[in-house]
Amino acid sequence: MRVAVAGASGTIGLAVVRECMARGYAVTALVRTEAAEKLPELEGAETRVVDLSDPAAVVLALGEAKPASVISCIASRSGSPKDAKAVDLDANLNLLAAAGACDAEHFILLSAICVQRPRLAFQRAKLAFEAALAKADIAHTIIRPTAFFKSLSGQVARVRDGKPFLLFGDGKLTRCKPISDADLARFIVDSVGNAERYGKVLPIGGPGPAISLREQGEMLFELAGKPPRFRSISPRLFMAASRVLSLGAPFSKWFAEKAEYARIAHYYATQSMLVLDEETGEYDADATPEYGEDTLRDHYRAMLATGS
Ligand SMILES: NC(=O)c1ccc[n+]([C@@H]2O[C@H](COP(=O)([O-])OP(=O)(O)OC[C@H]3O[C@@H](n4cnc5c(N)ncnc54)[C@H](OP(=O)(O)O)[C@@H]3O)[C@@H](O)[C@H]2O)c1
Repeated sequence: MRVAVAGASGTIGLAVVRECMARGYAVTALVRTEAAEKLPELEGAETRVVDLSDPAAVVLALGEAKPASVISCIASRSGSPKDAKAVDLDANLNLLAAAGACDAEHFILLSAICVQRPRLAFQRAKLAFEAALAKADIAHTIIRPTAFFKSLSGQVARVRDGKPFLLFGDGKLTRCKPISDADLARFIVDSVGNAERYGKVLPIGGPGPAISLREQGEMLFELAGKPPRFRSISPRLFMAASRVLSLGAPFSKWFAEKAEYARIAHYYATQSMLVLDEETGEYDADATPEYGEDTLRDHYRAMLATGS
């Protein structure tokens, strides 16, 4: 069975391609540059450079590959409103149309758990595509993971270098169940042709338990063998920055984008990456499904040991 993976050069796309190949699927990896085609991780896959903003090019690429399943791991790299619409919505719509045109049976979307409480342009773009996918005449599965290890690893070097760990507020404002690239890829590929998952929206976290930012810092200091040192930043700073930058937004794209980036920073400083209980409006760690075996602790330990 052939699987087409869009966004095959991204963090999760690469892991999904590797997992598909490990399970014996024939893989068509859709990338947007010739440099990406040569990525060593894609060796063994059929690679295709395709402009996902060009509907005819996407139809041609999928028409030639004839995949049974299409997995979209694409995402705007900037999160700016323009990129979000172009990638998270429009490019995915082109993929969906092409998947239908080549009679693919199943479309799997890598989305994000944060779309539950949409306040950002990229979240609205993802939701708009989720809605289009749900209406389309093709079996679909939507996967909404919690935080990736890479998103929680930005301060490893700070701790190693003896700098304080930066917290938002008291460091307990948000929690998540981190999931590794490999575990998420396994969860995604488990969905291929899996009729029990058709029509489902699946939030998914790593093995748990849910962990706060302060707990991430404490874990890092313990593993580094250093006494914990924290410095707190108020998330209100991001909101204030966003308000100031928004004043220039009607006159300048630069201001509009920077205002959105400040809103993104505020969002991640204040919102948990867990299932949201619609009735209470609270995030619910127990309701957030767990999957896989890789732990953030082992990931941090490996990063500290290898200096990466
Ligand atoms: N980071 C987190 O903690 C987290 C948590 C939950 C969910 N998510 C979601 O998971 C998804 C994937 O994340 P990731 O970390 O794997 O993303 P990533 O590493 O940034 O990869 C994004 C992929 O999309 C491709 N892409 C971007 N713009 C494109 C365009 N205009 N045309 C075609 N392809 C384009 C990239 O290609 P190039 O390599 O050529 O740029 C790359 O293959 C995102 O939707 C994200 O919101 C992330």
